[in-house]
Amino acid sequence: MDFARQLKASVDIVGIIGEDVRLTKIGKRYRGLCPFHTEKTPSFYVSPDTQFYKCFGCQAGGDVIKFVMEIRGLTFWEAVKLLADRHGIPLPKRTEQADEEARQREALYRMNEIALDLFRGQLRGPQGAAARAYLAERKVSSGTAEQFGIGLADRAGSLVAQRLVREGFTPEQLETSGLVIEREQGGFFDRFRGRLMFPIHNEVGKIVGFAGRALAKEDEPKYLNSPETALYKKQLLLYNLHRAREAARKQGRIILVEGYMDVIGLHAGGIHEVVASCGTALTHQQVKLMKRHADVIVVNFDPDTAGSNAAERSIVMMLEEKAHIRMLELDRDLDPDEYIQQFGSEVYLDLLNKAPTYYLWLADRARKKFDTRTAEGRTQAMQFLLPAVQKIPDRIERAGVADDISSFLGVERGLVLEQFKRAATDRREKTMRVEPAALPAADVMLLKAMVLAPDLRAELVPAIGQLGLAERPRVGTIFQAIAGVYRSNPHFVYTDVEERLEENGRALLHQMFLADEDHEADNLEAVRANALNCLRKMESDREQARMADLRQRVKEAQRVGDMNLALKLMSEIDDSKRSGGRTGA
Ligand code: UTP
Ligand code: MN
Repeated sequence: MDFARQLKASVDIVGIIGEDVRLTKIGKRYRGLCPFHTEKTPSFYVSPDTQFYKCFGCQAGGDVIKFVMEIRGLTFWEAVKLLADRHGIPLPKRTEQADEEARQREALYRMNEIALDLFRGQLRGPQGAAARAYLAERKVSSGTAEQFGIGLADRAGSLVAQRLVREGFTPEQLETSGLVIEREQGGFFDRFRGRLMFPIHNEVGKIVGFAGRALAKEDEPKYLNSPETALYKKQLLLYNLHRAREAARKQGRIILVEGYMDVIGLHAGGIHEVVASCGTALTHQQVKLMKRHADVIVVNFDPDTAGSNAAERSIVMMLEEKAHIRMLELDRDLDPDEYIQQFGSEVYLDLLNKAPTYYLWLADRARKKFDTRTAEGRTQAMQFLLPAVQKIPDRIERAGVADDISSFLGVERGLVLEQFKRAATDRREKTMRVEPAALPAADVMLLKAMVLAPDLRAELVPAIGQLGLAERPRVGTIFQAIAGVYRSNPHFVYTDVEERLEENGRALLHQMFLADEDHEADNLEAVRANALNCLRKMESDREQARMADLRQRVKEAQRVGDMNLALKLMSEIDDSKRSGGRTGA
């Protein structure tokens, strides 16, 4: 890690990012069109001061290493190596280990490629007749099968294992490949046997694993997937993303379906912006991946109960990632693949373009679940809808949704709004992701000064404890981090604070330091003056509150006739006044 820091200090983030993004200087920052999502007005910022980039459109952000990782599809060490090579910075010994890791990953990729070739060969050969017939029956053309790299695993279960051994891969490498299983008496056999094989690629199109579908109805499980390996991390993958990304950017939407076959069916029907998760419940990372390529996610799960329940569960998560969600529900109990085969792409596209936003879909579900003719049923329906609706970040949009829902459910508008208000209060307490404007200005001022003005720290940092800043909602964790780093190193820099924070805290910190377009706040003198003013104001507010409290207690003591206590409290008030309100609490 230390080398990475040293590297970050010696490369210029503006120069590196400038190679991929046309940047314009705006005040102290640079701005350009975000390379991670499609946009017409630039919301991608690079700050030379903090050495961070941040996109306010898709929330992508990080340091120069993260940028290189994301834009080139590299691992952390690959990115570090690339940057170091480019700047003629010698790599320290530690990265030999990283080289070794990269070599192992390379070996895994090669093993997957070899397996793919074998599977495809099997499907083409005489052993593949039944599997080819199965594909034909399911209306998968040979062209589509080729394009998706569909293959067939050897029935006997020795083909892959033998070949990998012959190619000279070590037993350790075989063990970590996920392609073979070790025999008790030694040696390996194939993990996938007699199954229709679907290669799974990462975002940049390299094969990371496989899914094998049973050909016979009675075979269990229906899909056998690669186990977790150094390459195959199912929570971070989306099937078909490498093919879908271009269309997703063009169309501004990405369709999420449940099954591999749904992806293939839609793609064959000319609808390319489609992905599926690999047999897992949707994760935040997967939503982030989709959001990087399109703002609108259209959820098109199977129309059965399991599908609807899964869709319902993913909504809140997608909203947390600020996605715009539309729900496409197909009738006649058909999944996307079956539907497009029966009715064709035109009909499907029409439904796709008309897909309603998620809350109408949810409201519809609420109406089916609860008896909205009774007051109790309506309340239940509201409760059911609230978690999703309270995630809508925009107040005006939320009000609009309240209107729609009230008429849809036949609930009085006032009741809906009241419920929303209550939910909004909860949300203020719970959410960490907030717009910069929603943060208390005084807190932000203090925070900025603590980071940017080292000479003020001796005066400002103790206030964290004295004024209870560490308990503040949202920004409290950042104050805590500052107090912590200050204790070990009074000359800390921005990244030291950043390293102590969890993801939410980091996002908030980035926002604060990159977001404001107010150039006055960029001026260090202004930051200092403002911060000192804020500190004085907070101190005097606290003092006033303390005095008010003392006076209240005096009254109370007088009322119950405890004159001793009243006098003691009054003298405390006098002391405070004399010392100009600067005594500690
Ligand atoms: P489906 O059963 O709907 O599969 O499961 P499908 O892709 O539509 O395939 P066909 O049309 O029946 O051939 C949806 C997804 O759930 C995962 C797979 O990712 C599958 O595509 N799954 C399903 C598994 O991982 N294991 C299973 O045993 C079943
Ligand atoms: Mn299905």
